[in-house]
Amino acid sequence: MLSIKNLHKQFGDLVVLDGIDLNVETGKVVVVIGPSGSGKTTLLRCLNVLETPNKGELQINNKVLDFSKKVTKKNIQAFRKQTGMVFQTYNLFPHKTAIENVMEGPVIVQNIPKQEARNKARQLLEKVGLGDKIDYYPYQLSGGQQQRVGIARALAMEPEVMLFDEPTSALDPELIGEVLQVMKELAEEGMTMVVVTHEMGFARDVADEVIFMEGGHIIERGHPADMFSRPSNSRTKEFLNLLSE
Ligand SMILES: Nc1ncnc2c1ncn2[C@@H]1O[C@H](COP(=O)(O)OP(=O)(O)O)[C@@H](O)[C@H]1O
Ligand SMILES: [Mg+2]
Repeated sequence: MLSIKNLHKQFGDLVVLDGIDLNVETGKVVVVIGPSGSGKTTLLRCLNVLETPNKGELQINNKVLDFSKKVTKKNIQAFRKQTGMVFQTYNLFPHKTAIENVMEGPVIVQNIPKQEARNKARQLLEKVGLGDKIDYYPYQLSGGQQQRVGIARALAMEPEVMLFDEPTSALDPELIGEVLQVMKELAEEGMTMVVVTHEMGFARDVADEVIFMEGGHIIERGHPADMFSRPSNSRTKEFLNLLSE
């Protein structure tokens, strides 16, 4: 299970996360929605400890980071290993092929022998539907294909939890479906996922819970069918109306 307790993050005087509490049970998918600037990316970056929260506690399985105490680099690394992040832009190494991009983490970070890492990377690229593109460079791949390499790359580290930050928002509309399909299959296989996305069809099909964030708070949470058809908070309602325009 992933557990977030009373998480606070500010940049200077700007309070971006103002006490976030969230539990995601193993195998569940939580979709996070909310207006630009509401703290969604910062929340994911805190879960991957790319940002250090000012206060609060994070837990995945038996690994705990309590930011009211001193956390060591070693603890941060152990925690970070449990999360895999997929970014809005793909951030692939441009001078490495698809398979080299996927192998990089296991070889460099986990010291896995190259041949073993290559075999695993090939399997992962097949899984995301790119078995015939393993030796292509990012510039030879479409945005949707690059993003699927990004997903394979995150999976190569065998995370407990996958974090997705608007993974389809930079894609042309016709390429969105292939990425969402891969994410849906991952969810069906039982991956625990926190997904920031405004793809409401995906949320409706795949999410166990939807979280609406605004101003660093969770304003409303619920099952997608309930929240989308009858949001209880007026801000949620306004936001969903804007999305469906
Ligand atoms: N590294 C940073 N330094 C200063 N302000 C930041 C930084 N990262 C994010 N912010 C600010 O935090 C707020 C929330 O940003 P973000 O988490 O990216 O929101 P969202 O992903 O919901 O659009 C914004 O006002 C943004 O400008
Ligand atoms: Mg964002």
